[in-house]
Amino acid sequence: MATLTRSAALPAWMSAFKTPEEVNRPVTDVEGRLPDGLAGTLYRVGPAKLDLAHHLFDGDGMVSAVRFAPDGGVHCATRFVRTGKYLAELNANRPAVKGFGTLVGRGGALRNAVQLSPGKGNAANTSLMFTAGRLLALWEVGHPWQVDPSTLETIGEMDFDGALEARLPFSAHPHWDPATGEIFNFGMVYGRKNSVASYRIDRSGRLHRLAEFGVPAAVMNHDFIITDRWLVFCLNPLRMRLMRFLSGRAAFGDSLEYHADEATTIVLVPRAGGDPVYVEAPAWFQFHFAAAFDDGDDVVIDLSRYQSYDDIGPYLKAFRTSASYGRPPTLWRYRVSTKTRRAEGHELSPQGLEFPQVDGRRATGGYRVIYGEFMDSERGVSGRIGRIELDTGRTDAWDPGSGWLVSEPIFVPRPGGNDEDDGWLIAHAYDPDRQATDAVVLDARDLSAGPLFTAHLPVNTGVTFHGAWRRAA
Ligand SMILES: [Fe+2]
Repeated sequence: MATLTRSAALPAWMSAFKTPEEVNRPVTDVEGRLPDGLAGTLYRVGPAKLDLAHHLFDGDGMVSAVRFAPDGGVHCATRFVRTGKYLAELNANRPAVKGFGTLVGRGGALRNAVQLSPGKGNAANTSLMFTAGRLLALWEVGHPWQVDPSTLETIGEMDFDGALEARLPFSAHPHWDPATGEIFNFGMVYGRKNSVASYRIDRSGRLHRLAEFGVPAAVMNHDFIITDRWLVFCLNPLRMRLMRFLSGRAAFGDSLEYHADEATTIVLVPRAGGDPVYVEAPAWFQFHFAAAFDDGDDVVIDLSRYQSYDDIGPYLKAFRTSASYGRPPTLWRYRVSTKTRRAEGHELSPQGLEFPQVDGRRATGGYRVIYGEFMDSERGVSGRIGRIELDTGRTDAWDPGSGWLVSEPIFVPRPGGNDEDDGWLIAHAYDPDRQATDAVVLDARDLSAGPLFTAHLPVNTGVTFHGAWRRAA
């Protein structure tokens, strides 16, 4: 179990957990020059209303939109997603629905036991995606919530015109295939039988079901990755203790137990149909994948690997009082042979790295740079925005300062350019002195030079998990 550092004087960044205002206004406080050709909107989402939450994952989702207009103007809007959970708890003083790590505040174990549908706790706080012009706010085990991309008003819970049955969750980690324009995703189905459902969304926004494969236990799984041929799952030995959960004594997140002596099961689901391929490897834990690709009969998978779930799980629960972060994850590569059904893994860089990303045009192969948030154990949760070159191992980073909170960076290609890495990284950085967030634009090839452009937003967007860039029409 990781040791959590508790401090009597709480760090300044704790102010990031204050419930933000909803705003809709131009941003006039800017620095630097917006690069030519960079026009569009950075959407981000995170757990912004945390007053009733007992876990960072249970804050109500607020979507922010920072628009960079072609004439150089900047505009900022923030708005909570009006989920059932948000409305039920708007004027409440204790939790009304069970979340990932939060129990219902009234009615004890019995009331917590009877709320079996995980979707009720849907906070729409984890990630965003566009499909056929629709903006969706996503959570781990619920249906998407559709939001108007201009006004950020909540349109409603959506099920892809009935194609997504009520029992099927739609995870917060869809992946886009740059070659076909299709989007793939999955859902963890918990119940008498536990399974993983998988989906393909075509370019017109229609959802099609792919394989649904059974898993022997209720494991937590946050992300997956795609190659040209496969959907790739790495199911870590992080299992729910069923009786603790079903009896209503513990929320899902508090029922999880990491089994270091058990296998991580790699499951390859053929995109073209057919039976999944199962490969076992020694235990690890990951939240996020960077990318993966096919190499002959092998599948090569790059991910941010924790040595144990205990290096991150306790911190997420203790988000209000702890600035520590156990051992940060590092970038690992696994090579899986579909012939011999063996997997070999090694560390690509010792640099702590979460929220790994590649240039999305190379998401299924041919990349040599991985971007993300650099995590250094002595800095706790205060990270840097960094890049790792795979062939040289060289790293480069922008450090806003100790105590700042940086978000996952998103790579935006320079219009007209085709080379990998030719573009910008766009991110949020929470300034604890100003108690508000900056939207920053960095040259992807020269991060340590600092932001080319900074928009000092009039609001705190707090901790945001994931986002999406939408190029101006
Ligand atoms: Fe995530």
